[in-house]
Amino acid sequence: MSIQGTAALSYSEIGGEHSMHIQCPPHTRLQDYLLSKDIHILTACGGRGNCGKCRAIAPEARINTMDRIWFTQDELQQGYRLGCQVFAKDSPLEVEIPD
Ligand code: FES
Repeated sequence: MSIQGTAALSYSEIGGEHSMHIQCPPHTRLQDYLLSKDIHILTACGGRGNCGKCRAIAPEARINTMDRIWFTQDELQQGYRLGCQVFAKDSPLEVEIPD
């Protein structure tokens, strides 16, 4: 997922790979939360789940139909979800966005 913005929440680098770590507040769409922090996700499909460009890792997030289209069963088990479809329900949701 390509990200532009200035309000980084936290970043890490492991083995040359960069990731952003986010705690999405309850009752919030990840995409809305990032926009509120002035972090703009470049989405080819406008967040409709059609392009598969917004890979995020959120093992606790619900798996929806579009996730099942874009990810293998193995990737789903690793926690991969479409970032544009991630929603935190009743508790904060930990999300990693690989660079
Ligand atoms: S932005 Fe296109 S699938 Fe998420």
